[in-house]
Amino acid sequence: MRNKIYDILKEKYKNNSNLFKHMLAVEACMSGLAEYFNENIEKWQIAGLIHDYDYLETKDNIEKHGKLTVNKFKGIIDDDILHAVEAHPGNIARENLMDKALFSCDPLTGLIVASTLMHPTRKIENVDVKFVLNRFKEKRFAAGADRDSIKDCETMGISLKDFIEICLNSMKAISKEIGL
Ligand SMILES: [Fe+2]
Repeated sequence: MRNKIYDILKEKYKNNSNLFKHMLAVEACMSGLAEYFNENIEKWQIAGLIHDYDYLETKDNIEKHGKLTVNKFKGIIDDDILHAVEAHPGNIARENLMDKALFSCDPLTGLIVASTLMHPTRKIENVDVKFVLNRFKEKRFAAGADRDSIKDCETMGISLKDFIEICLNSMKAISKEIGL
């Protein structure tokens, strides 16, 4: 199922490699987080991969973001995965760990990408948790990466530092695919 979703997205976003890379980054983070929380890795991966499927159609209509994806994949993708997708823009309540993980790691991937691009080496392999944490504290840096949403990870019972570490390491493991 994961590879099927991957092919659908690759085709849909063949002219928007940044968005495709973003979805790969969120998938990787979700995989690392599922492992940490002892949850279903493939389900969490698919949630990360598919979460912005309808981005192009809904970017000016945020209340529909996620809902179009749910309508399209209902009956094809498991309901709990689709719930996380629908909850990630904050339109409906987050009810479980998968919902919360997706909500918080989505903006964190943006912060990690921006941190890497301003690192002297511009290579994610040289970025450490402290570097990202310092960027986190600079409110005006990558302001689009909402700090409150990232910090919401603590409601899962994990520290911000550990959360960043898992996501950073997950993204390092796919650095070639995401061009970092
Ligand atoms: Fe996203």
